[in-house]
Amino acid sequence: MDIKSIILAAGKGTRMKSQTPKVLHEIYGKTLLGYVLDSVKNITCENFVIVGHHAEEVEQYVNKNYENVKTVLQSPQLGTGHAVSMACPYLNNYEGLVLILCGDTPLIQEETLRKFVDFHKANNCDITVMSTIFDNPANYGRIIREADNTLKCIVEEKDATTEQKAVKEVNAGIYCLNWGKIKLAFSQLTSNNAQGEYYLTDIIEWGKKNSLNVNAYILENNEEIFGINSRMNLAEATKIMTRQVLTKHMVNGVTIVDPDSTWISPDTEIGQDSIIYPSTYIEGKNKIGKNCKIGPCAHLRGGVEVCDNVKIGNFVEVKKSIIKSDTNVGHLSYIGDSELGSNVNIGAGTITANYNAITKVKSKTLIKDNVKIGSNSVLVAPVTIEEGANTGAGTIVTENIPAWSLVLTRSPLKIFTDWVKNKLK
Ligand code: UD1
Ligand code: CA
Repeated sequence: MDIKSIILAAGKGTRMKSQTPKVLHEIYGKTLLGYVLDSVKNITCENFVIVGHHAEEVEQYVNKNYENVKTVLQSPQLGTGHAVSMACPYLNNYEGLVLILCGDTPLIQEETLRKFVDFHKANNCDITVMSTIFDNPANYGRIIREADNTLKCIVEEKDATTEQKAVKEVNAGIYCLNWGKIKLAFSQLTSNNAQGEYYLTDIIEWGKKNSLNVNAYILENNEEIFGINSRMNLAEATKIMTRQVLTKHMVNGVTIVDPDSTWISPDTEIGQDSIIYPSTYIEGKNKIGKNCKIGPCAHLRGGVEVCDNVKIGNFVEVKKSIIKSDTNVGHLSYIGDSELGSNVNIGAGTITANYNAITKVKSKTLIKDNVKIGSNSVLVAPVTIEEGANTGAGTIVTENIPAWSLVLTRSPLKIFTDWVKNKLK
């Protein structure tokens, strides 16, 4: 599609009280900015992230994780309108649509942005601003309408009259612009307001003055534009996101025994008839098959692919691993950087020792089909356990094990008859 996006992420985020830039704070191991970039990535052909505060860190994050995204420095940060103008040199010859979003609204959905753009096109708008209704509109810019209900302007809380403050329709901070018609505005904004900033919101009045078609798209679900300004907001956004994710899975035929104590990242797929038991925490990107049983108290840390009929029981941590069908990891285990075949049984307390703390190298553990690992085994990676092999309880495996063999590292059991009785005498 001929749409580009500009994502504003240069602001300070003072209220987070953090050494980490606000947009790099995470929910389920993904940054706030990452959620916003993911919401546009299937809609846009090119994206600009405006960076300023902690610019280098944000730049590094973007370059490492996203293609088709350019970072543009805004220094000093003179307001949201000024922020957008930083991208103007890159869009001189562009005449298509530009979506503008803020980097601190991680709940926005791709589907909503698509509807927003469709609305913009269907109504031949030049400028469309997304709005929503809040019972408590504090801190947001208010949408001010004319007597005939058309859009008049947006007034920031700090510039608003008492009457304007009572308005419950607010600016979501998301805009769709016909760039060719609006780009001139960014060299004409002024900073004549309470905060002495160049407000992006002033493009509404500019558009009207220049006879453009200016509209608002009212978003029904106001949760989606919930912005993060504090740690309290961050926790609340995590709750909202979690509830949406759990509901989606339950609608799709997954049993969530206790939604109040279950945490699942939005990038986790789960097959039908799987059961997720209480106090389970699943972050990052994962794929869980059908008829699996996960938890209680399981921890999946991302990069986990689980096939059908797999059991991951209590106090089991799994990271970056593939587990094939009909395999059990029942209790108290750590499985990291591993591949487990089908019909494998992992005894309680098994650890894949994937990390060499001296060399800082992580290595893989390969466990083929039908292997049985005895309780309390340590598999020191890199290591391969070939098909059907068994390890006895307490075995420390430091070399590859051939198929269908038994391996033990155990000093012989010694029994001292009546030893205790004699001591007590
Ligand atoms: C802004 C809107 C407000 C809207 C609200 C929605 C303006 C003037 N106000 O207010 O109408 O209701 O968002 O959440 O636009 N930023 C920069 N450079 C700057 C200033 C800000 O990149 O110089 C970025 C921030 O990092 C942030 C976004 O722009 O991601 C919004 O800035 P913020 O200061 O949070 O604006 P609000 O006061 O929330
Ligand atoms: Ca904000």
